[in-house]
Amino acid sequence: MAASPLVTVMINAARKAARAITRDFGEVVNLQVSQKGPADFVTRADRKAEDVVREELSKARPQWGFLLEEAGEIKGKDGQHVWVVDPIDGTTNFIHGIPHFAISIGLTRNGEPVAGVVYNPITDELFAAERGGGAYLNDRRIRVAARRDIHDAVIACGMPHRGRGDHVEFRAELAQVQAKASGLRRAGTASLDLAWVAAGRLDGYWERGLKPWDICAGIVLVREAGGFARDIDGAADVLATGNILAGNELISAQLGDCLKAAKV
Ligand code: IPD
Ligand code: CA
Repeated sequence: MAASPLVTVMINAARKAARAITRDFGEVVNLQVSQKGPADFVTRADRKAEDVVREELSKARPQWGFLLEEAGEIKGKDGQHVWVVDPIDGTTNFIHGIPHFAISIGLTRNGEPVAGVVYNPITDELFAAERGGGAYLNDRRIRVAARRDIHDAVIACGMPHRGRGDHVEFRAELAQVQAKASGLRRAGTASLDLAWVAAGRLDGYWERGLKPWDICAGIVLVREAGGFARDIDGAADVLATGNILAGNELISAQLGDCLKAAKV
């Protein structure tokens, strides 16, 4: 992939943060067996990685703002561009020594997602996309899967757990999708779920209650891979609602119908 200067900045920031994250992940795997567990350590790893990403991005584009999972909102002088960053998406996987997490760096221009990088440092898979430029996995162009019928589809989801989301609503939605899809997955990292839809590994994905930093980069990946990423209930701004549905045109429509049927 001949990455644009903008995407190159994002890739460099992700790769730089990845070095520390990969070291810390090795440490977490050791801490696993201790009574106290790795939670505090992980919070520090998260902050450290976020600082690295922020520093790299600010160096390249000093006027642009930030929306960061840890540090929150930082207004930029330019007012148009905002970096939307999750330093470790999939924290629960990270804490449990499960090698499925990612650094997610998105960019919005006037509130619209326009570029995204999602990097799993353990598998060294780097997904990147910029509006109008296509989506890539490392050097290879990626496209959403071409399956036409949800009966043949593998659909991923996010499950609300203790203290999060509406469990009754989720079970109703799951029952509908379960009856139609050929396989279901819950991998625990929203940015990678979207990246995997973009790469055609998953045919569809839905989850409610996400934050902008979980989905901003992934939305650009799916759209640039020829897919749809939108609000489940048809709201205009999926970044704001955090209720996302993704897939190719046909699968996303059929998945949307399933989720609608769960409401009645
Ligand atoms: C979480 C992951 C997970 C999703 C959660 C998110 P975090 O992000 O993306 O897949 O189901 O809702 O909060 O907390 O691990 O950065
Ligand atoms: Ca996240």
